[in-house]
Amino acid sequence: MTRAAILNVTGYAGAELARLLHSHPGVELVAVTGRAEAGKKLAEIFPHLRQIDLAVGERVDESVDLVFSALPHTSSAEGLIPFIRQGIPVVDLSADFRIKNSDTYRRFYGVDHPAPELLGGAVYGLPEVTRKPEQGARIVGNPGCYAAGALLALAPGVAAGLFGADIVIDGKSGISGAGRTLGQPYHFAEANDSVSAYAMEGEGHRHRPEIDQELGCLRGKTSKPVAFVPHLVPLTRGILTTVFAQVVRNVAQAELMDAYCSFYEGSTFVGVVESPPSTKQVAGTNNCLIHVRASDASGKAIVVSAIDNLGRGAAGQAVQNMNRVLGLPETMGLEQLALYP
Ligand SMILES: NC(=O)c1ccc[n+]([C@@H]2O[C@H](COP(=O)([O-])OP(=O)(O)OC[C@H]3O[C@@H](n4cnc5c(N)ncnc54)[C@H](OP(=O)(O)O)[C@@H]3O)[C@@H](O)[C@H]2O)c1
Repeated sequence: MTRAAILNVTGYAGAELARLLHSHPGVELVAVTGRAEAGKKLAEIFPHLRQIDLAVGERVDESVDLVFSALPHTSSAEGLIPFIRQGIPVVDLSADFRIKNSDTYRRFYGVDHPAPELLGGAVYGLPEVTRKPEQGARIVGNPGCYAAGALLALAPGVAAGLFGADIVIDGKSGISGAGRTLGQPYHFAEANDSVSAYAMEGEGHRHRPEIDQELGCLRGKTSKPVAFVPHLVPLTRGILTTVFAQVVRNVAQAELMDAYCSFYEGSTFVGVVESPPSTKQVAGTNNCLIHVRASDASGKAIVVSAIDNLGRGAAGQAVQNMNRVLGLPETMGLEQLALYP
């Protein structure tokens, strides 16, 4: 049984990870940390986690086998460095081990990376897209939630050489994507019954560079950055992504479907579906549903993907990555079906 710990269990991502690990047959959750809530029982903070008999600690000792971090960026790398130095595998839900280039990290996150020398050894944890073996990896950078939805939607078309450089991404996220920390745009009276775009100024949203980075890996070269606009929608969970990708030649619907179905053949979590998916169809899961359409008139392909930002966008993906690092069956602990209605 693997002994796992979560740094910062008191945010949405950390709490969802604790929920998933509780029913994982190959893992025992042995330690969780938090700052303001240190010393309290987990069940006092999160009554929905009452079956987990753990107190929130201030730190984790190095007797654990694997560490997840759901800390904010920068604090996350700093918190993980002692474990990395001990050779303990880590899965980081923050942005700290996603971007390979420390200058890009500084440009988008406004701070120097605390350990740029570790970036080269980190694996970008979106296995259906990167196709890299995580087994034996010591550092996995879990993708950003918007990036996961966008990359899963784009990868088959890009890998097949069907999509050119002109790509527009419209992402719509539920409010838990902004975390548990209070902020005016997330108050019920501000967010309910309303939809808004954000992060349009300057170079745009922080998830864009990781999308560009991973599309570059699929193409074997860097190309024009994608255009990406995120939106806040009045949902608790879920990200619906619509991508508009220029096709390099006339591509029939059947060819596009073939490219998508064969790219995801054998994948338990990613499904190519006949009609546009909704976020409800993936709520509480690590799944991603994708619908793809060739649009002759516009010269574009249109792809829609649905994920749960706390599932495939965070904790579910982290568990899938842990399974791969440990050499466990990839779906272990992630077999639950979506909540409905
Ligand atoms: N929410 C999502 O959908 C999602 C998806 C993918 C990835 N992520 C990533 O997961 C991480 C956690 O996100 P979240 O949405 O769960 O956050 P969150 O709900 O906003 O949680 C933030 C928690 O972090 C603690 N905290 C804040 N600053 C800290 C610091 N400097 N050091 C230690 N603890 C600090 C706060 O608790 P105390 O004040 O009690 O310490 C707060 O409860 C972030 O890196 C985020 O980018 C989130």
